[in-house]
Amino acid sequence: MKKWFDEATIYQVYPKSFKDTNNDGIGDLPGVIEKLDYLKDLGINTLWLNPVYISPQLDNGYDVSNYFAIDPSLGTMDDMQRLIHLAHQHQMKIVMDFVMNHTSDQHPWFKDAVNNPDSIYRDYYLWAKGRNGGKPNNWGSFFGGSVWEKDPGQTNEYYFHLFDKHMPDLNWKNPEVQNSMIDIAKFWVKKGIDGLRLDAFIHISKADFEQDYPSDGKNPYPLAESFYANRKDVQDYLNHFSSELKKINPDIFIMGEASSANVNLAVDYSDPERQLCDSVITFRNFADDRSQNNHDIPENFQPAPIDVPGFREKMAVWQSNLEGISYPTLYWSNHDMARLATRYGDFDEEEASCKALALAMYLQKGLPIIYYGEELGMRNMNLQDLADFDDLTVPEFDQKATKAGFSHEEVLNMLNKTHKISARNAMQWDESNKYFGFSDHEPWKYGPTAACSVEEEQQEPNSVLNFYKLIIKMKQEPLYIKGREIVLNTKDKQVFGYKRIFNDHAAIVLCNLNKQATKVTLDDNLNDYDIRLIQKTANLDGKHQVSLAGWSSIVLEKK
Ligand code: BGC
Repeated sequence: MKKWFDEATIYQVYPKSFKDTNNDGIGDLPGVIEKLDYLKDLGINTLWLNPVYISPQLDNGYDVSNYFAIDPSLGTMDDMQRLIHLAHQHQMKIVMDFVMNHTSDQHPWFKDAVNNPDSIYRDYYLWAKGRNGGKPNNWGSFFGGSVWEKDPGQTNEYYFHLFDKHMPDLNWKNPEVQNSMIDIAKFWVKKGIDGLRLDAFIHISKADFEQDYPSDGKNPYPLAESFYANRKDVQDYLNHFSSELKKINPDIFIMGEASSANVNLAVDYSDPERQLCDSVITFRNFADDRSQNNHDIPENFQPAPIDVPGFREKMAVWQSNLEGISYPTLYWSNHDMARLATRYGDFDEEEASCKALALAMYLQKGLPIIYYGEELGMRNMNLQDLADFDDLTVPEFDQKATKAGFSHEEVLNMLNKTHKISARNAMQWDESNKYFGFSDHEPWKYGPTAACSVEEEQQEPNSVLNFYKLIIKMKQEPLYIKGREIVLNTKDKQVFGYKRIFNDHAAIVLCNLNKQATKVTLDDNLNDYDIRLIQKTANLDGKHQVSLAGWSSIVLEKK
């Protein structure tokens, strides 16, 4: 059955960094409202907002202390209701982030659980006694160190936190936790939102704490993914959650963040028969070429260009396995990774590289998710101090990199090119001030970055912004929504190409993701095709060959 979200083109708004209307350096909901016309003109039809609930902001809103109200730094409940209403008037849907794996340690449940060991909320969280005078086990937290922290109350137990120590994990085994989270979600569905992005849902079930994660001991707290990700119970808890929501609104869109899900899990999570998610976001679709990396330091903060053959393989597997099950999500960046222009773009050919990458991703089968500012080719900001990254793992990286001979500038440069915090910079609206019209006040997180802005790109016909508008519009055509996808197995290391097929229609999209020119040989007879779009320089050479200049792309459609 057709659903509205089969045609969704999603725009991700990080509200703190989008538009500040009260000049405190923090973006706000009235700022999102102010920019609805811009978003409408861009052509997107769905907005995903990162968390806007009341929060101490230790993890920028992912540490929620009250799910039923809007954080005062972002606005009020009235603003949220106005946003929902006005977005709908603009024919746009609203998807809210839903933090279900943990709360803030300032949430009344956790406070009560700590202050009163007999509290009914004690069992809302996960506790264990220490072993041999130490932590209950050796599992590592995603934010560095152990997952265990001493109960700040009177007991000798520890509580579990997969992320920051101020974000204790909820105990989903407890039916009361499940019911409470369902009630919160229902509260928002009744307010008129159209979807939820389930944050970190794959972690809501944990293995038995007695089992240490076998490791060589070099790292005292190894990541123990298989003990806290994608366990079988996740599906049972989620089925209960999603089916309750679908009872009150069958059209609610459930988009699950399944960062480490492989394709088989993605199939399970998004199979309509199972009523779990409608679509999933994985982080496993990317392939980086790490051949030039230094193997003495961790790879996560070392820039790496795209590995096109690896990406081709992942997309082919993903597309063919999800065919007939659910629409994959299509994205290049989000608030947890570097911006596209910085990550895979080519600073010598910035405009063309951003356009080629956009075309490579977004005319594929699936739901585009465009990270705010990506449509301008915005880069990461350059933070000036290691402390600005608010990340426990950064000093450790610095230490290792310094030992391996990197200078302080080189370390900062690597971090600015790869770190999630550098990607959360203020949206660049115009060039009226140093903050690109985001605010008159210094943004809550600030570092210099390359100039570009909405105002300037609106006036430039060949801008990245106008190119995004063009392809977002094409994306609404049935061929690019419903058409089957075949990833082309071309014989080179730099072209990402695919075919879309829908009834008698077909298109071939070829994108050269490298600065070197190349020629691509295709099985199809190109005389059967018209040129729909050329980005930069491309030529048809005879019946089966296309030449593409560096960072060029072409779309051909069957006559
Ligand atoms: C979000 C992160 C956040 C984490 C904990 C994620 O997967 O995208 O930004 O830090 O969940 O809530």
